[in-house]
Amino acid sequence: MNQPTYPVFSEECQSLLKKHLSPTIWKALSESCTKSGYSFSQLIHSGIEQQDSGVGVYAGDVESYSLFAPLLMPIIRDYHASSGKHPASDFSFDDLPKICVAAQQRIISTRVRVGRNLSGFPLGPAINRTQRLEVETLIKNALKKLPERIQGAYLSLSDMDESQREDLVARHLLFKSEDRFLSSANLMRDWPEGRGLFLSEDKAFSVWVNEEDQLRIIALQQGGDISAIFRLLADGVKSLSEHLNFAFSDDIGYLASCPTNLGTSMRASVHMKLDSLAGNETRLKKQAEALGLQVRGVNGEHSESKGGVYDISNRMRMGVTEKTAISHLVNGINVLAEMD
Ligand code: ARG
Repeated sequence: MNQPTYPVFSEECQSLLKKHLSPTIWKALSESCTKSGYSFSQLIHSGIEQQDSGVGVYAGDVESYSLFAPLLMPIIRDYHASSGKHPASDFSFDDLPKICVAAQQRIISTRVRVGRNLSGFPLGPAINRTQRLEVETLIKNALKKLPERIQGAYLSLSDMDESQREDLVARHLLFKSEDRFLSSANLMRDWPEGRGLFLSEDKAFSVWVNEEDQLRIIALQQGGDISAIFRLLADGVKSLSEHLNFAFSDDIGYLASCPTNLGTSMRASVHMKLDSLAGNETRLKKQAEALGLQVRGVNGEHSESKGGVYDISNRMRMGVTEKTAISHLVNGINVLAEMD
């Protein structure tokens, strides 16, 4: 058997993997493997193959977070700037801060999502074909029990024709079918089988099945009524959690394959049209970072901005409640809008 060798990182590589993988940690873990068969080399594979990764690791199962903790915990702490235990969920929306007028005028749409995975199954990078199909069936059954106002239909990715698929992706309702990060993380095995999209009749509520996480539960609407969208999401999550057993740990919160999505596993974002700030992207990113926000292009992660429209979201998802994360986002975009 080939002995694994200490990985080579390019000089430009700035991933948290490169930062935290000391030779000592590597030596201690490089030959370890979890009970479901997820190895250390699989854990770090995407970060080695995709040297422009920001993070560079994907967990294969719950045990990855304990077995590989000497590498994963420093990465988690670094990313989320959180050291303590993850608090209990709080989806209350009564006294959220208000979006100011300048921000309202700039917001085109608002989206809030959480990631969830089922307890008792490996996460996406280590799941096998049969288990993935079982997960899909469990989720499809739970979706049938959603409250009336968010009922809709499940579309399996295998049954979609190409033009329907492209149309859903263009409308930001569906995940893409090519992503080199997911592919390097072993998350695109058996694609498109077992993957799908649930869409409520009004399309405001959706669930992605078996993409990066087993569920991505999403509320998406035009305009900036963040409390209404947050409430819609909370209703959907509550109903699904009554029929599915979501993997959760008192220390790191909801389990996700990517450490950026632990904790609340929530990303709340607005698409915002900026004027003067759009003129200097480096400055915009710096300002946003100082406010605890993340800036992306309009077609999802690793995409470019178009016509001055940016996707702005909370960066931290762990160590805070859902309500606090949303409040951060609102306060931050108010500041950005005033500056603009
Ligand atoms: N693995 C990629 C990186 O390290 C993505 C990280 C966060 N995004 C995500 N979809 N999990 O840059």
